[in-house]
Amino acid sequence: MTPIQKVIKQNNKDIKPIWLMRQAGRYLPEFRKIRKSNPNFVELCLKEKEVQKITLQPINRFKFDAAIIFSDILMVPFALGQDLNFKKNFGPILGDFSNNKIKKISPKVFSRRLKPVYNSIRLVKNNKLLKNRDLIGFVGAPWTILVYMLNRNSPKKKLKKIFKDKVLISDLLKLINKYLSIHIKNQIKSGATVIQIFDSWAGLVNDKDLEDLIYNPTKKLVNYTKSLKVPSICFPRNINNYQEYTDVIKPNVISIDYNVNPIEIVKKIKIPVQGGLNPKILLTNKANIKKKTKHYLDIFRNHPYIFNLGHGVLPNTDPNMIKYLIKTVKNFK
Ligand code: CP3
Repeated sequence: MTPIQKVIKQNNKDIKPIWLMRQAGRYLPEFRKIRKSNPNFVELCLKEKEVQKITLQPINRFKFDAAIIFSDILMVPFALGQDLNFKKNFGPILGDFSNNKIKKISPKVFSRRLKPVYNSIRLVKNNKLLKNRDLIGFVGAPWTILVYMLNRNSPKKKLKKIFKDKVLISDLLKLINKYLSIHIKNQIKSGATVIQIFDSWAGLVNDKDLEDLIYNPTKKLVNYTKSLKVPSICFPRNINNYQEYTDVIKPNVISIDYNVNPIEIVKKIKIPVQGGLNPKILLTNKANIKKKTKHYLDIFRNHPYIFNLGHGVLPNTDPNMIKYLIKTVKNFK
């Protein structure tokens, strides 16, 4: 059994596996090299050999306990026919949303468009570096995908106007859920052993809408993943009530962001926990990295815990600091 499966299935508290969100990315010179000759990010995500290489780069270099497939949560709106571009220093820009166009997409067409993603998973899976390591597949949570589809870029403030149409939202969430389920199933069939659900914009939802926009749709995906005998990790960024979230949705693991007090979490949450450390800490110095890393490890000493950050690795991180972080986690007693 892999270290992460031991934490999830056996509640093992003695091992603290480590992987990092965005562990493959711009902070790695070997990634930047491939990226330079692939200016179109979406096209890069559809190049099987390159995706295989990029996914394995951090495993090769640091021996993380898991690989996460190099792709993006926005490949789902893309496969549903919405244009997708990434503008430097701005982030994603999606094309006009057309309900009619989306209703014409079939599961077959959707799966065909994402076939290179599934083939890349197969390629990674067959590599000997994956022995005793998990391969993490992922999706955006229905709400976060809805936000991108309607808002067309990362929201800078509270969303108002476009979210007034309750019928559109409810219909669209159902459709998104259907396709996210297909994407989860295809990733698992290709070799993903864990599914992480990223709800980056969960924090924008008012308490009264949590049930409709976050709890019900996400719970369906978690239950569906469970029915395929694969564990799920939920990362609902910036929410207020983690206890209620885990009680309602019942994921296998809850991933916390860096605004969350880990002491409160360990008191209240019974399931395995992942993450927390502020990625900005990795921009400081070794003494501080050691201190802040040990803070998390001390708090979760007697709790099943997967070490990770509270958000993705920042592009200006020094790879030597990642190496130092892993050493600190592995040597912790
Ligand atoms: O974690 C991993 O390494 C796996 C691959 C992965 C990427 N994006 C690659 C990526 C994963 C799991 C994601 C998830 C993702 N994508 C989320 C959820 C997590 C979060 O960050 O809140 C969101 C909201 C997106 C949408 C997205 N993709 C944004 C907002 C951006 C631009 C911001 C940025 O960091 O550049 C991306 C681009 C993106 N996705 C990059 C990578 C490596 C950078 C692209 C580049 O090389 O320029």
